[in-house]
Amino acid sequence: MNEVSVQRVVVSAPAKVNLALRVGGKRDDGFHPLDTVFEALDLFDDVEATVAEELSMEIEGIGSDLPTDDSNLVMKAARLLQEFTGTSFGAHMKVTKRIPVAGGMAGGSADAAATLVALNALWELNLTKEQLSKLGARLGSDVPFALVGSVARGTSRGEALEAVKPGALHGWILLTNPVGLSTPSVFRKFDELCPDAGEPVSTKDLCEAVKGNDIVRLGSLLVNDLEAPAFALRPDLAEIIIALQTVGYGVVLSGSGPTIAVLCNIEKLEVLKAELANAFPELMIVTAVGPAAGAHIRQKS
Ligand code: C5P
Repeated sequence: MNEVSVQRVVVSAPAKVNLALRVGGKRDDGFHPLDTVFEALDLFDDVEATVAEELSMEIEGIGSDLPTDDSNLVMKAARLLQEFTGTSFGAHMKVTKRIPVAGGMAGGSADAAATLVALNALWELNLTKEQLSKLGARLGSDVPFALVGSVARGTSRGEALEAVKPGALHGWILLTNPVGLSTPSVFRKFDELCPDAGEPVSTKDLCEAVKGNDIVRLGSLLVNDLEAPAFALRPDLAEIIIALQTVGYGVVLSGSGPTIAVLCNIEKLEVLKAELANAFPELMIVTAVGPAAGAHIRQKS
């Protein structure tokens, strides 16, 4: 039986958008070299971990139909921590999901990051942030970013991070789509469309723009090399983006999609949300503000 003194830990971890996602040709390990800039949003999934004999999980909220067996990243994160530390402690993880599922916003990675932080505290393992990040990278390319949050440039397959100091807060309108897109299939389409891709294009200009507070300039630099393959698989997304380009701010596909992100001033969020809800009644529209914190403990008892 678990003899640790902490009984319950609640951790929140953020969704992300990629302000830039530049993709290179496929590596020998099957991953693609990236030069990307992540921004964490104040749209959080929560993981509540409580002491239990075995490992188990449940999901509340938008992903309640997702599997809760060992295929779930939450269970994988817990098992990886057990293996790495040699502990036999158990836990029950209750995930409250708000980040769209298969939406290109790293919801699964956020849940894995939240689980690592929650169990590190619940089991009193005292692993460092660096150790958690290395374990996280084994679970998914976006997990290290979900741990640190704010804004960061990601290279290699997205897990090698360098913090970028943001100059302003940004408003985001997220047009989430009821039909998800699989990340591997979008990367496969990228390979088909760009068989000669070399190194990814640098995101240096965008990193500089993030440090300033000119939102129009930042909007003009938003870019995603996965748009062409995602649009080839889902022409409906291209139509939405083309229609949105008239709003005057930056519009970009988030990660591998299908969520589309519109950058705007925070004061305009509600007005623009109402306009877009009118224009796209079939889509669920969510507002968020970034940058936001990485995975963090909200309650511990
Ligand atoms: O690392 P993650 O689990 O998020 O990746 C999911 C899939 O996306 C990988 O299996 C791979 O097909 C693709 N991917 C890629 N290159 C990356 C990141 C992800 O090809 N840099």
